[in-house]
Amino acid sequence: MKTSPAPKRQILVTSALPYANGSIHLGHMLEYIQSDIWVRLQKLRLNHCYHICGTDAHGTPIMIRAQKENVDPEEWVKRINKEEIEDISAFDVAFDNFYTTHSPENQAFANEIYLKLQAKGDIVIKTIEQSYDPIQNMFLPDRFVKGECPKCGAKDQYGDSCEACGATYNPTELKNAVSTLTGATPILKQTDHAFFKLENYTEKLKNWTVGGHLQSQISNKLGEWFEAGLKSWDITRDAPYFGFPIPGLVDKYFYVWLDAPIGYMASFKHFCDKNNVDFNAYWHKDSTTELYHFIGKDIVYFHALFWPAMLMGADFRTPTAIFAHGFLSVDGQKMSKSRGTFITARQYLNHLNPDYLRYYFAAKLGSGVDDIDLNFQDFIQRVNSDLVNKFVNIGSRLGAILSKQFESKLSANLDKPELYDHFVKQSEEIGNSFEQREYHKAIREIMALADLANQYVDQEKPWALIKNPETHAKAQAVCTLGLNLFKILATYLKPVVPSLIIKIEQFFNQGEFTWENLADPILGKTLNPFTSLLTRIDQKQVDLIMQEAQSNPELNTTETTTDNAAAPAGSNIEPIAEIINIDDFGKIDLRVAKIVKAEAVPEAEKLLKLTLDIGEGRHRQVFAGIKSAYQPEALEGKFTVMVANLAPRKMRFGLSEGMVLAAKNPNESGLYILEPHDGAKPGMRVQ
Ligand code: 2FM
Ligand code: ZN
Repeated sequence: MKTSPAPKRQILVTSALPYANGSIHLGHMLEYIQSDIWVRLQKLRLNHCYHICGTDAHGTPIMIRAQKENVDPEEWVKRINKEEIEDISAFDVAFDNFYTTHSPENQAFANEIYLKLQAKGDIVIKTIEQSYDPIQNMFLPDRFVKGECPKCGAKDQYGDSCEACGATYNPTELKNAVSTLTGATPILKQTDHAFFKLENYTEKLKNWTVGGHLQSQISNKLGEWFEAGLKSWDITRDAPYFGFPIPGLVDKYFYVWLDAPIGYMASFKHFCDKNNVDFNAYWHKDSTTELYHFIGKDIVYFHALFWPAMLMGADFRTPTAIFAHGFLSVDGQKMSKSRGTFITARQYLNHLNPDYLRYYFAAKLGSGVDDIDLNFQDFIQRVNSDLVNKFVNIGSRLGAILSKQFESKLSANLDKPELYDHFVKQSEEIGNSFEQREYHKAIREIMALADLANQYVDQEKPWALIKNPETHAKAQAVCTLGLNLFKILATYLKPVVPSLIIKIEQFFNQGEFTWENLADPILGKTLNPFTSLLTRIDQKQVDLIMQEAQSNPELNTTETTTDNAAAPAGSNIEPIAEIINIDDFGKIDLRVAKIVKAEAVPEAEKLLKLTLDIGEGRHRQVFAGIKSAYQPEALEGKFTVMVANLAPRKMRFGLSEGMVLAAKNPNESGLYILEPHDGAKPGMRVQ
């Protein structure tokens, strides 16, 4: 049965570093559970695999947050780092090192990489104009400027994009802009910034992109970015800033996204120094070890373009692969505090065992970038029926009989070796499914085996066999095979539900289950007395989590955003507008409109001029920010929905008499006008 062991791989895995400005939430946990399962699988198969993470410490939001808390940013980051470690490890995510980007190792690498890029001519200094808060005396990140949308006039919009109409713009374009820090009107000020000339790496990156390092959806996305042309990246922030000073410049700091991925190297270096591991074996440009980054799909640009380019320029190795995952929604809703669907790791842990969530995520995760929904009804049903009723039940039923009837002693032979072999043989397929991050497939395969084990027990009925002295010994043999099948299933599930499996290992009392001892049945041994392993989830526990989540304080901008609005890894928190009542809604006159004419506005980058028929011979002219998505001719004759009673606005190109409705995801480029079903007529009221 035994094959000679494959040569061991040397693998370094990283997970995205969480910011030091908020609590770890279930969006983060989706990623950390995904990467932890993968790393545990590697360790279970006795590969050398290290898993590295740490706190992403730098940036304006963290500096401001620390100011509010009246502590130094260093002190604040230490506090958050401790909390992050507690929350993440309580979910059984076992990082080999969880460090911080505010470390001497990280500063040394950031400087080294920057200076190497500079020596290669990849750094250029440019003078730019930026919004500046004259009271706070600091330059303002886009998200720290608010005002009226230059496109639709919506109030209270951030400096980078409008949540009402989806337009993107510069903070300098906002009307009546104010600094969110002081309420002052920002002024424009010039400043010199160092830029990394990403465009110098276009060819190398193109080659790298098609080298099998990326998921197909991600390489497609990159293709679009290449088509648009790579541009120099502003890696500078002006003082005051919590970060590392840029060598050779005065009062200039590295932008947080420059030193964040370098934090992977720094965290690993810190680990290597403590544990006598060869750092260069993993980062030297000729390294033959494997390097994988697990990330959320929102931060692909940083990891699949900037990061490999920086590594190429500084003569380090590039990643073997980047594994991006989708966003987490809760009960079909985006995670949002105002909707009560923003659940912190702590809120979950206060009421439920981490294995439940680990199992549920595994049962849903695949290798693509699809979003995952945590549907609580499905969660309760799935965990109770698979994990408790199907899997744990095998051990409970047989363990209880073995303890009571046979003093916990297993028989010396296997009842049906062929059934046992069948379970062992599945290891290849299950191992591959895990390896390829098709966890949902692995879980399906494991549960199919659990069904087989249950069928075997149900057919043999050991609880009936024990009643007859003639079949008493057969009952022991059935328990012995059934428990050995249970042990194989437990080995397969070990990366997913480690705490549960530790209890099962303790029950068997024969050391740790590994991939290598899968084929070795446990025979003739005396096990520990059987104790309860896992209980069913009760709806009440979920209700308590939801209640806690409802009482989360509202987010404010400084808590949630970086200064370029990249969302926290693995999350897709999008604030929704203030709640309105039905009377407010009634004030909006939405009408079906026919686009009778659509023309490009040559002077405006994003606008199309639409002539809309809204029935009874009435026509309206509307300027809509949809040029990027539609050829004007393609719109003519289409029906859409417009806000018909919006106060007309005088624009440079003419009067805009309303607004058409379009859907857009702030993180993506697609834009889609709304279209009623066939049969709707111009002028009909939309209600
Ligand atoms: O998006 C985020 O939450 C970032 N803190 C992730 C950084 S990952 C790496 F580059 F450090
Ligand atoms: Zn707008």
